[in-house]
Amino acid sequence: MRFVTKEDAPGRTGAGEKEFTGAAASLLLAREDGRRVCWAGLGPGAKVDAPVLRRAAAAAARKLAGLGETSMQFDCTAWTHARDIAGGAVAGAYTFDRYKTSGRRGAELGRLVLVGLDPGLHAAAREGVALAQVLNRVRELGNTPPNILTPAQLAEEARAFAERAGATIRVWDDDALRADGFGGILAVGGGSDKRPRFILLERIVNPAWPTVAIVGKAITFDSGGLAIKPRQGMDEMKYDKMGGLAALGIVESVAALSLPINIVAAVCSAENMLGGGAFRPSDVVTIYGGKTVEVLDTDAEGRVVLADGLSYVRKHYKTDLIVDLATLTGACCVALGLHRTGVFTPDDALADLICEAGVATGDRCWRLPLGEDFADMMKSRIADIANISGSRWGGASTAAAFLQHFVGDAEWVHLDIAGPAYLLEDKPEMERGASGAGLPVVVETLRRRYAEEKAKG
Ligand code: BES
Ligand code: ZN
Ligand code: ZN
Repeated sequence: MRFVTKEDAPGRTGAGEKEFTGAAASLLLAREDGRRVCWAGLGPGAKVDAPVLRRAAAAAARKLAGLGETSMQFDCTAWTHARDIAGGAVAGAYTFDRYKTSGRRGAELGRLVLVGLDPGLHAAAREGVALAQVLNRVRELGNTPPNILTPAQLAEEARAFAERAGATIRVWDDDALRADGFGGILAVGGGSDKRPRFILLERIVNPAWPTVAIVGKAITFDSGGLAIKPRQGMDEMKYDKMGGLAALGIVESVAALSLPINIVAAVCSAENMLGGGAFRPSDVVTIYGGKTVEVLDTDAEGRVVLADGLSYVRKHYKTDLIVDLATLTGACCVALGLHRTGVFTPDDALADLICEAGVATGDRCWRLPLGEDFADMMKSRIADIANISGSRWGGASTAAAFLQHFVGDAEWVHLDIAGPAYLLEDKPEMERGASGAGLPVVVETLRRRYAEEKAKG
């Protein structure tokens, strides 16, 4: 596999303009001495950066893997972005074919050789591979159908993440949830025979330091509950667990990078279904720690389970930062499209840090507003807060204002990944299905934030 800029494409490949332009993530398959050669376009030379190389490497790896190649060589002679090239290749080669009983690809990308790479960059390349492998695990579970990946099964899978991360894990089942008062998770999970779970991973490197808490929404299927969704597109709601899965991946990535931070992941998992035990519009539920929520829409369930998770980490940890990740609102997709994560935080510097980390990783983000006005829209006449506003407008921000109610004055950011969490169509660099969005940008944010803190002393 060879990278080539738009300017160099005609000269180096000998291909005609119509055959191959060298545009970003475009590909040309050729043969030399009986061996397959794949050219990957980078677009204009002046614009080549880490995300461009990542995409091109991913597109090439995806193409080659689709042709049955499990061993690939990338010519990296001219490029220094080893982490992105290696990571892009591993992520691009991923495919979800576990449930095909014939025609499976079988082996994953088994061998990746980076030819001509500066030896000083080998560690960066290995890091790219490690992070992409975590991303692929998150995607694999994301793609797993909801009859198989139930909340209980998700908790089992979380054990493997904990083990690889050297983290401890604690799982709350039905009885434990009831005993400890997780009223939000129990309400949302009430209509399903697949009982809910709260899952807590903990990686403490120094008990004297404060903790970073990642809280994730893991609805294994969101039917909408009694406020049932239209059948068109309901299948997509198996991806309503991606925030919780990303949280697991973040802990494993932080461990793989040996970042000097304490980190916990709090995964709030339930299936939102209809049934005799289902919660209803007009129910009042008591969240962990005692705050009350008037449920006016059972399809606004993510914020209800997150309220438990946020309250839990607030009570039990001295947090330096709380990040929550959730496929929370269709309104966020309306505002930002399908390729941007919505960022909500009162902290300007944190918002900037995240958006910059998003640019650097290609896991793009855009800030949306919080404010008193949105908080006011969530007032309930009979409980502490309602789970929907009475208005059609600003749905991503009113959802964020609901979450803000449960974090108080803690340093916090909410990431709404409803748009980018999954692709409905194949792209050259990634097959359709779970994308792992939110994982790369949070890991990069933590890397930057805590490298900075160390530099400050
Ligand atoms: N899981 C959905 C949000 C969603 C929508 C995720 C599209 C991915 C793609 C969430 O639980 C939901 O249903 N939200 C409602 C909130 C509304 C009832 C206030 C929505 O966005 O319509
Ligand atoms: Zn919903
Ligand atoms: Zn949902």
